[in-house]
Amino acid sequence: MNGNRWKLMRQAMTPIFTSAKLKKMFYIMDKSGKDFITYLKNNPEKLNGKAFDSIATFCCAAIGAAVFGVVSDSVFDSPFLDVARRAFRATFKSNIKSTVMNLSPWLSRKLKIKLFSEYEEFFIGAVKKIIRQREHESGQKHDFADICVNLQRSGTLKDRETGLEMEPTDELLAGQAFFFFSAGVDPSAAAIFGCLLELGRHPDHLEKVHVEIDSTFEALNGKLTYESVMDMGYLEMVLCESLRLWPPIGFLGRQCVEDTVLPVGNIKIEKGTKVFAAVYELHHDPKHYPDPEVFDPERFASEAARDSGVYMPFGKGNRLCVGMRFARLQVKTGLIHFLRNFTVETKFDGDVVQFRKDQIQVRPANVDIKFIPRKKHL
Ligand code: HEM
Repeated sequence: MNGNRWKLMRQAMTPIFTSAKLKKMFYIMDKSGKDFITYLKNNPEKLNGKAFDSIATFCCAAIGAAVFGVVSDSVFDSPFLDVARRAFRATFKSNIKSTVMNLSPWLSRKLKIKLFSEYEEFFIGAVKKIIRQREHESGQKHDFADICVNLQRSGTLKDRETGLEMEPTDELLAGQAFFFFSAGVDPSAAAIFGCLLELGRHPDHLEKVHVEIDSTFEALNGKLTYESVMDMGYLEMVLCESLRLWPPIGFLGRQCVEDTVLPVGNIKIEKGTKVFAAVYELHHDPKHYPDPEVFDPERFASEAARDSGVYMPFGKGNRLCVGMRFARLQVKTGLIHFLRNFTVETKFDGDVVQFRKDQIQVRPANVDIKFIPRKKHL
């Protein structure tokens, strides 16, 4: 979505991610983290090889639980998991389609190119079913399905500034739910993978994270809380630094809506021009980060470092990732449960990092992470 339609939808979606809402949703994230440990215990073959896939399955299950609610004993048994994993598996065909869509929305409309058409019916059907069920249930579950019901009860969405109105139909809300999967799963998995990759080759930092996690669990008698996750300062620094080194999304894109001149360098930009910000390069630029390839969580000891103009793993400005707070909480909760029970070793194949040929994501191709159970906790 662009322009006024995007603005109105963004206004409707932003309140989902307030601290108060996330705190209520925390029980879903906590359960997802615990279910991940059980899943790994029951599938020991996942411990040694294809770590990214296991982590992505976890993110898909966890986002599925936050969208559709906890509908089965384990979030890994959800009927949505398999379809969602299949929908977002990149193939040669899907890569070609999304390249055309990125390069020319006009051409993709002319050629009637659609990315996920075969999953439309399933998703809209699932969202419709859940919304209808919830309308008759008492009590709040604090997931996206609850929010959909509330949005529909509040009636037409209106933008006072532009006068634009939109009906929160099942189809529109299903589209949003689907977008949460498509925008959320792989970047969250890449964030966890990048963090474990660095911890797996820096045992000193890994040890510090383990100590922070263990002492939190011990102080809380084994029960994690929203506040305790927010208070883990060292983990926060480690995550910030690994998102610097491995920003899941390598560049940001914008389209100019009027002729302008960039203040730096006096560069003219015509209306309609697409402009890209090279996030990965900025994060690795020695002008901004001395010894940029060194993993040093202390760089983020101050909040100012997180707010700097060049640090943008979640983007910048009006289009900043709407799921950022949710994602950070989800990623940290997953990491905490995981690292309470496992330690990691990073395995590089060769001396130089090679990257996957991917549309948007930055993902190393020749790295894997071994998951090793920590005996005292399993
Ligand atoms: C660590 C995980 C994540 C990372 C690194 C990430 C990163 C990003 C980035 C870089 C953008 C583009 C921002 C820009 O252009 O300025 C974006 C947009 C977006 N993200 Fe995320 N994201 C993550 C997780 C999530 C999750 C879990 C959700 C959903 C619950 C989500 C929903 C979205 C949406 C809806 C947009 C489009 C926002 C808009 O255009 O208004 N993201 N994300």
